[in-house]
Amino acid sequence: MTHDFSDVRRFERIFDAPGRARWQRPVEVVGLLGAAPGKTVVDLGAGTGYFLPYLAAAVGPTGRVIALDSEAAMVAHMQRRAEREGLRVVEARAVAEGDPGLEASSVDAILIVDTWHHIPERAQYAARLREALRPGGVLLVVDFTLETDQGPPVGARIAPDVVVQELQAGGLVAEIIADETLPDQYVVRGTRPR
Ligand SMILES: C[S@@+](CC[C@H](N)C(=O)[O-])C[C@H]1O[C@@H](n2cnc3c(N)ncnc32)[C@H](O)[C@@H]1O
Repeated sequence: MTHDFSDVRRFERIFDAPGRARWQRPVEVVGLLGAAPGKTVVDLGAGTGYFLPYLAAAVGPTGRVIALDSEAAMVAHMQRRAEREGLRVVEARAVAEGDPGLEASSVDAILIVDTWHHIPERAQYAARLREALRPGGVLLVVDFTLETDQGPPVGARIAPDVVVQELQAGGLVAEIIADETLPDQYVVRGTRPR
């Protein structure tokens, strides 16, 4: 599903809306990701950078946060945001739609929030993400449930069991996380086998 994300100001009002933390529970999401001091974590489809302060706080000054987006205007916005907010461990980069452009076995964890349904050829893409993860590394796909009133049109959403199948097709061990508390979203975890 392609979508025009070039109007940063418009999306900032949505993605960085003051009430988002109530349902997004970013601290819980970052905890599920296993982001910890010294880790290298990726935010794929990072948009306006909503998760960047939380990820930067979790990895600390010795970690790295790589913020990837296919929309150049979002990347420029995140670079300004990181500078303004003093997020020194954040590096924002533009990527091609079908390729995260990450080196093999280079990252500990990858966060993908409200973005998986925009990715083309998802099983192949999942295989690229598996390659980028270190053995034992994890990725999280966080997206709106089919039932909630929030999020993109229902026809654009992907059921969590389908996400599991797509990650498995890319060689990851995948499961729906049952014990999370997000009211409108599911969380699927993919792990690169050791
Ligand atoms: C709905 S926004 C989510 C932003 C952010 N993850 C959040 O939760 O606030 C989706 C973002 O994914 C980006 N995107 C879409 N397709 C992409 C792709 N194939 N690779 C990287 N980024 C992509 C868009 O430009 C947009 O910024």
